[in-house]
Amino acid sequence: MQEIKAHNKIKIGNITINSITALAPLAGITDYVLRKLIREESKTTLLMTEMISSEALVQNNDCNIIMTDKSESPVSFQIEGHKPELMAKAAKILENRASIIDINMGCPINKIVKGQDGCSLMRNPKLASEIVTAVKEAVKIPITCKFRLGWSQDDKNFIEFAQAMQEAGASAVMVHARTRSQLYSGTADWLELSKLRGEIDIPYYANGDITSPQTALKCLEISKADGISVGRASMGDLSLLSRIEKYLNDGILLPEPDLNQKISMLKKHLDMEIAFRGEENGIKFFRKFYPCYIKYIRGGSEYRHRLVTELNYNNIINILNEIAINARQE
Ligand SMILES: Cc1cc2nc3c(=O)[nH]c(=O)nc-3n(C[C@H](O)[C@H](O)[C@H](O)COP(=O)(O)O)c2cc1C
Repeated sequence: MQEIKAHNKIKIGNITINSITALAPLAGITDYVLRKLIREESKTTLLMTEMISSEALVQNNDCNIIMTDKSESPVSFQIEGHKPELMAKAAKILENRASIIDINMGCPINKIVKGQDGCSLMRNPKLASEIVTAVKEAVKIPITCKFRLGWSQDDKNFIEFAQAMQEAGASAVMVHARTRSQLYSGTADWLELSKLRGEIDIPYYANGDITSPQTALKCLEISKADGISVGRASMGDLSLLSRIEKYLNDGILLPEPDLNQKISMLKKHLDMEIAFRGEENGIKFFRKFYPCYIKYIRGGSEYRHRLVTELNYNNIINILNEIAINARQE
């Protein structure tokens, strides 16, 4: 703990992040609203946007996905694509909004990898390096890369790949400690990731399966990483990153929010999505979040079913009030 505490800042290129925690990018989830809510809980964690298609952005840069404001900083905007020139143009469009530009080199889904984007860049380090160099030349802010351990169990090239990205100009890397073949199955291999220590001069973040302050500390100890990032566990638990920071910095384990607190957070999150997207779109968009906020309660699946099929705002609030009154956390 002492050793971790001594390193509660991370220097990424010419900027210093006053936290060793980060929100991992989640497509369709870490939108402007969720990031803003997490920023209310933690002033220092590094926020990350979901992946932004460089092609779509360059064709039409007037979209919700790039919405931000000054209070979000430090925020990393993640771009996705495989054409160095387009990626550089996309980075240039985002430069004034972002503290950092991150390049997606880890997305495993077929739609992305079949077009040479995402994790397929790990099989083409030359192209990946060209992208980093082109983006770095286009903007003055630091560039980072997020990738996995490798393509498959037999092809784990994260060490050489990280070295190549550093050589090309990356100022930090974030590694999801699974291979592309694993998708999200099995467990993140933090020990494997520890082999990166001493192999690169830039900081690395460990990512995968952190769900609590204690697992964050364990991940740091095992992976020997400079920082950690949390994705899925941040959904439905807006204070998780700030509780992790408190634990890592001061050794204090703050209690998890109880059901009533979670329902209050949920209502605020829903209201902000509605303000951001309009009532119908906001309510539909929000459906993916109910299971994250409302779990481990008696009758949970029935409540969740009612919530995800409901389109009327007042009815949703009534169901939430009913849960708060009737359900008890197990
Ligand atoms: C629904 C979903 C969307 C994701 N979207 C992105 C993305 O846009 N960019 C990215 O680099 N990783 C993306 N990821 C991967 C996460 O950032 C993270 O690496 C992974 O979920 C493991 O971390 P966790 O166990 O803390 O969630 C996504 C993962 C999920 C489950």
